[in-house]
Amino acid sequence: MMNHYDYIIIGSGIAGLYAALLAIKQGSVLVLTKSSIDDGSTKHAQGGIAAAIGKDDSPELHFKDTIAAGDGLCDVNAVNILTKEAAECIDDLIKLKVPFDKQDGKISLGKEAAHSVPRIIHAGGDATGEYIENTLIQQVKSTKVKVLEHCLVTEIVTDGGRAQGVKVFDYPTNQVKEYSSHFVILATGGVGQLFKYTTNPNVATGDGIAMAFKAGAEISDMEFFQFHPTAIRLPGVAPFLISEAVRGEGGILKNAAGYRFMPDYADGAELAPRDVVSRSILSEMKKTGSDKVFLDVTHLPAHLITTRFPHIYRFCQEHGLDITKEPIPVAPAAHYLMGGVKVNEWSETNIPGLFAIGEVACTGVHGANRLASNSLLEALVFGRRAIQRTQTSHSAIARKTNKYYSLPKRKPLSNVPPLNLTNLQSLMWNNVGIVRSAEGLTEAANILATWERSLPEFIDRASYELGNLVLCGRLMAEAALLREESRGAHFRTDFPNKSPKWRRHIVFRNKHSG
Ligand code: FAD
Ligand code: SIN
Repeated sequence: MMNHYDYIIIGSGIAGLYAALLAIKQGSVLVLTKSSIDDGSTKHAQGGIAAAIGKDDSPELHFKDTIAAGDGLCDVNAVNILTKEAAECIDDLIKLKVPFDKQDGKISLGKEAAHSVPRIIHAGGDATGEYIENTLIQQVKSTKVKVLEHCLVTEIVTDGGRAQGVKVFDYPTNQVKEYSSHFVILATGGVGQLFKYTTNPNVATGDGIAMAFKAGAEISDMEFFQFHPTAIRLPGVAPFLISEAVRGEGGILKNAAGYRFMPDYADGAELAPRDVVSRSILSEMKKTGSDKVFLDVTHLPAHLITTRFPHIYRFCQEHGLDITKEPIPVAPAAHYLMGGVKVNEWSETNIPGLFAIGEVACTGVHGANRLASNSLLEALVFGRRAIQRTQTSHSAIARKTNKYYSLPKRKPLSNVPPLNLTNLQSLMWNNVGIVRSAEGLTEAANILATWERSLPEFIDRASYELGNLVLCGRLMAEAALLREESRGAHFRTDFPNKSPKWRRHIVFRNKHSG
């Protein structure tokens, strides 16, 4: 079997597959993915992709909204690139035959929180991710891209400081294999499985961040994790997302007593930034002693709900809820990691030959909080730039951060709960979640550091993922503890205000990686 490729791409979501379609024009491509090809966050995306293609819109306006959401920490150059190159990437998806929704022959544009104009392009109403993922899969299958499913990448192999390939655990056969390549591209998605309530699929376990950290890559902005305000809250039902676009169409939030509370908290009411809405919901849940609030769309025309949100309508119906007649029980859930593997505007990490694209990467476009629907766009724009870079420079130029942190040493505790996924997710939800404090974060960091010393032996996918989640949780807790302020999605009760001193990034590097 051939085991050398020009490009190895790890992950088969929007970032990995789109990059693979561009890379195959340059050389041989191997896509490795740890589950079935379509398993990832991409196929669950509902709202859509933000791009300034409307007649009342412009890249400058999209830039302004993105910078405002990022709360002082966006990389201005990266946001400029994102908003300027958006339209070309959407054109590309149209050429690849993604069937975006249209009205009167023109692409329809939805409205979401903190966007000053409607600019969200969608497909199948609220099934944007599924349409994109399926289209990209079909396109990839028509090329010479080699895709290996159920292949867990466990290590980035470096030699002389350059990424040279990967180690893989082929878990149906339990075989360990090695593949080499000229370029390694991480497209492994996020880390939403860190939390008890999450919109993310099971594969979102931060493997790319953990692998990159161990190989010596810089990891930035881990304290900035976005919680989505409205995931369904029904006993025994996973927190299925109720898209922000539902509030964009006029859905309103009421507490358990039936009172519409958002106007009391923010000028934008239901369309205030996600962190504001999530914290307001938590406060109302506490006030009313309930584990949920309600998203009400019963005042909207039934045909609007069933045609604009067919996926959400069907899901709720299958769970005994007719949302045209009854409000939807919702609560916040973990959703998106703004931080990740630090890259420059060409998606290069500090390790030559290693790129990161999509949710695993920290390009700086999101700053302290992501503007809704900017992540699918980021995966396209910076995925394309990664491949462009490999065409112009076969010895990728590494970028460096002058100041970075190492994980601090912590004394192991003698009395900690046993390490398992349930205990980890509860600890992260309670102590490193929507509302944080030094006390809770210190406790979490100490427990995580103790667990790090007793990680299960790597024998299968679950044990490997648990180790990665503990490391990512530790990076998140330590960064959140260092950042003594509240900014964007990071909120601390002991430091409730923003501080100019903290208008900077927290970057970690593994001191043992050389
Ligand atoms: P993913 O699509 O998550 O793919 C990651 C891939 O990496 C998977 O194939 C996985 O199996 C693979 N992988 C991971 N680890 C390994 C390993 N060790 N070895 C091999 N393979 C590995 N964003 C928007 O812009 N608009 C939206 O409307 C929107 N809605 C969302 C709704 C939901 C419910 C969720 C969860 C997210 C939503 N987002 C949205 C965010 C967006 O969907 C994600 O950020 C984006 O899809 C990430 O794409 P990706 O390609 O980086 O990762
Ligand atoms: C949603 O549809 O609310 C999710 C959009 C996003 O996370 O960007």
